[in-house]
Amino acid sequence: MLGLKREKAVVGLDIGSYAIKALELEIKKKGKQNAYEVTKVGYEPLPHDAIVEGTIIDSAAVVETIKALFEKNKITNKDVVISISGNSVIIKRIALPAMESEELAESIIWEAKHNIPYPYEETNVDYAILKPPPGTEGKNLEILLVAVKKDKVAAYSNVIHQTRKNLEAIEVDAFALHNALEINYPEDFQDKTVALINIGANITTIIICEKGTPQLFRDLSIGGYYFTENLRKDLNVSYEEAESMLKGAPPKNVQAVEVEAALGMNVKGLVEEVEKTFTFFEAEDKKEKKIEQIYLCGGLANLKNIAGTFEAKFKTKTILFDPFRNVYYNERKLNPQYYQEMATYFGVVTGLATRKKEK
Ligand SMILES: Nc1ncnc2c1ncn2[C@@H]1O[C@H](COP(=O)(O)OP(=O)(O)OP(=O)(O)O)[C@@H](O)[C@H]1O
Ligand SMILES: [Mg+2]
Repeated sequence: MLGLKREKAVVGLDIGSYAIKALELEIKKKGKQNAYEVTKVGYEPLPHDAIVEGTIIDSAAVVETIKALFEKNKITNKDVVISISGNSVIIKRIALPAMESEELAESIIWEAKHNIPYPYEETNVDYAILKPPPGTEGKNLEILLVAVKKDKVAAYSNVIHQTRKNLEAIEVDAFALHNALEINYPEDFQDKTVALINIGANITTIIICEKGTPQLFRDLSIGGYYFTENLRKDLNVSYEEAESMLKGAPPKNVQAVEVEAALGMNVKGLVEEVEKTFTFFEAEDKKEKKIEQIYLCGGLANLKNIAGTFEAKFKTKTILFDPFRNVYYNERKLNPQYYQEMATYFGVVTGLATRKKEK
């Protein structure tokens, strides 16, 4: 179309421990704005135990699942961007005096060696300079330092290699969520202090942004698998029964009140973990800081009334994150009901799919 420049798309691939999600977006540039349209989308559950706590245990199962995901959804683009999360990803915000780029590169290495709890040689380190807050330009550099364990990068790269796709980039879940938030809720993202919480199976990622600048990223070892595991043990049921209870199916051999009580305990545990992160953020720098809006995504965000529980606990407006709020999909080609039902699963993958192929 006139005035619209088309960018070469990648396929975002979110390799979660419960399910793998794929999304391809057509990105059109118009002036400074990007417009996004879904061209391909897919979701494929993984066998239980194929990935445990972010570690690939059964790589053949992961490879087969990715292949099936591409075939079933007729995805022919081979250029993929994936992300990783969990305790082999370390993200730190550091402040350094303004300096020349060569000097900065050396300082980053020094900071990485002192800030990261793994030997420097075992990690890949990257950094981004954050936008300075108004009025402080030129004084300090706010830097986001990212370190990822090399063995983790190798394991994920290897899986992609076996699927015969081209690995364009490896992101971290937190940054992908940050992108998805920025494109879908630009007003709140620019004007407010907001938190987006992605509650998955093994990992819950929290990001907090203040007026468009990332303030805190955190991966907690908590999620739906812990819920199912607790239900299984506490109510003496099978993994499958626990899983269907989590999804709201009426229990067979257990009283509904017991299920409700067990679920309530698990949600309480999750909310308390999130509270620690919020308290840490609000107490940092001794500034008055308050989260004004909470968004929830990830599979567990589908849990009945979880947004209401967060809203009551934190006295902060909480809504389910819609990763397609500003992403167009053609309702004649793709079923809108699918998007409504699947929206919460697609937070990370939407952020990944907004990347363009490097020329
Ligand atoms: N309708 C539902 N209600 C409640 N929980 C659900 C529902 N659907 C899925 N879940 C739970 O959500 C979790 C999966 O979420 P998600 O797909 O975001 O995880 P993942 O990205 O694969 O995992 P991770 O990123 O933690 O490795 C599972 O624990 C599953 O039991
Ligand atoms: Mg996930």
